Amino acid sequence: MSHTTMALVRNLHRFIPISRLQPKVNPSVLKNPNQTSFVRAASTTQPLQEKKEEVKVTFIRASGERIEAKGKIGDTLLDIVVNNEIDLDGYGACEGTLTCSTCHLILPKDIYDKLPDKPTDEENDMLDLASGLTETSRLGCQIILTRDLDGLEVQVPPTLYDARS
Ligand code: FES
Repeated sequence: MSHTTMALVRNLHRFIPISRLQPKVNPSVLKNPNQTSFVRAASTTQPLQEKKEEVKVTFIRASGERIEAKGKIGDTLLDIVVNNEIDLDGYGACEGTLTCSTCHLILPKDIYDKLPDKPTDEENDMLDLASGLTETSRLGCQIILTRDLDGLEVQVPPTLYDARS
């Protein structure tokens, strides 16, 4: 497209009312039928934000203290701890790069068995270094929240061991 043509297109609105430039849209296909401007809805540079569903997770310290928090579907349990600023000393030290095992959590057996993603060899290697390992231990940075995990209660082991130290 030449510079002249581009300049003409850019200034087209000066000669033709903007309402004439917008394509006719059947309001029933819009998410918001009261929407008056199609231009914004059709923008590819600013996609409409999808509201992500939240799920509740309770972290239970060895002392019995319960900490309720919320996370979005697709977040990890590590994300919940970080985003809610939950005070678990040293938790998630490697920021989810599978090199520390400080994000060790103990899951209820039924949830552990139902999780679609089983631990990888790398996660198992890290779990072997975790303090207080159990049959249902997982690394929080590897557990991705799904709708099914709403109401999950996880045990925080008494000690979080950093495998890098
Ligand atoms: S945060 Fe380090 S292994 Fe999960």
